[in-house]
Amino acid sequence: MSAGDTMARRAAEITATETERLLERTPKSRALYERAVSHMPYGVGSSFQANDPYPIYVEQGMGSHLWDVDENEYVDFHGGFGCNVVGHAHPKIVEAVDRAVRTGTHFATTTEVTVAFAEELCRRFGLEKVRFTNSGTEATMDAIRIARAATGRDDVVKMEGSYHGHHDTVMFSVLPNADAMGGREQPSTTPMSKGIPADVALHTHVVAFNDAEALARMLDDRSGSVACVILEPVMMNIGVVLPEAGYLEAVRELCTRHGVVLIFDEVKSGATIAAGGAIERFGVQPDLACFAKAIGGGTPTAAFGGRADVMEVIEHGAAQQGTFNGNPLVAAAGLAALTQVLTADAYEYLGHLGTRLADGCSKAIAEHGIPAHTVDLGAKGCVSYRSEPLRNYRDFLETRTELYNASYPWAVNRGVFMTPGDEEQWTLSVQHTEGDIDRYVDAFADFCAAVARG
Ligand SMILES: Cc1ncc(COP(=O)(O)O)c(C=O)c1O
Repeated sequence: MSAGDTMARRAAEITATETERLLERTPKSRALYERAVSHMPYGVGSSFQANDPYPIYVEQGMGSHLWDVDENEYVDFHGGFGCNVVGHAHPKIVEAVDRAVRTGTHFATTTEVTVAFAEELCRRFGLEKVRFTNSGTEATMDAIRIARAATGRDDVVKMEGSYHGHHDTVMFSVLPNADAMGGREQPSTTPMSKGIPADVALHTHVVAFNDAEALARMLDDRSGSVACVILEPVMMNIGVVLPEAGYLEAVRELCTRHGVVLIFDEVKSGATIAAGGAIERFGVQPDLACFAKAIGGGTPTAAFGGRADVMEVIEHGAAQQGTFNGNPLVAAAGLAALTQVLTADAYEYLGHLGTRLADGCSKAIAEHGIPAHTVDLGAKGCVSYRSEPLRNYRDFLETRTELYNASYPWAVNRGVFMTPGDEEQWTLSVQHTEGDIDRYVDAFADFCAAVARG
């Protein structure tokens, strides 16, 4: 048996024993699932929260910790899919939300706190104008509409393997199956969901990340019809895929040359990988950028913005609206998060923790010869089960899923709360301690040893 086969067999054994243990530890989650599934598909509020055979239901969070309904305690590395960089129940957020609750949570008129929140977003990310939405999905949906209105064009280019929310235009080639994804040179536009009219696919085109030549060919072929290129400047829905040197600059230049609106989807990277997100970290300014998750300090808000001359189409016939947009409750939480919690010192601290975590995991990977690597980007990072870093989605298909499948229940059983799904990554908060990081590293090192034991 080859070393790879032995590791796969060992991973399957670990998955079986650790899953059994996880099910034994979570009877109340099972009971709540049985109740929930009578009234909600999969027993959850969003399909991303589903898990097999049932999800873990959380009861409360405090600082960097959370507790499930069975009173199991965890350090939270899930971060509510990347939102909780402030941690749970941070006193500054509690104070801001408490004040808002006592003075009125919703008027559907713009309040001063909303204006201040807009000012802070513009300052951080180098935007001229912003508008608010309630989710990352709405932010990318509206940014695309604004780009279409500003250019008078219909077509959208996205990267294979990127998720930009669940509106129709971008629900293509998110995690396409190998047999449906088409050739490397020209990936097909593959729907991620039933219920999307086939015609929508005619306006969404797909290229590989980190391949500026493919994008150049696409824009040459479709000259005059492409309204925007939307991409995550660092891909964060297949682990973490960094842009290669010069790639984002080349994308910027191509979009400028073709009169195409460049949209950065910073829903995950904004306010996590640097104070100014990927725009600051990689030094490339898009025409529009989308934000959600961490900017709300744990409350559901989102925004998009950028060049004033593009955003001004909102004043000339492009619709952008929503009852709860910029609502004072979430604006207060977001403003407190960005101005009082996620300060320059906070980013330094998150960087320190992230490097401790990634280095600790890298050491265990090397020691036990695991086919994996780590990525370290401040509050975000991951272990990917492939020896070489990923360049694009097709590399993700080569990751060792069986190792991830074994690692998930292993971690959860040792008090390390992680996202179900190898496309996700860890999120750290300002309330995490070095001790919290070491809990992850110790559990991971033991996992590597167990897998390598053969
Ligand atoms: C990069 C990216 N864009 C957009 C979205 C959609 O955000 P939301 O779930 O708030 O609609 C997500 C969600 O995970 C995301 O990761």
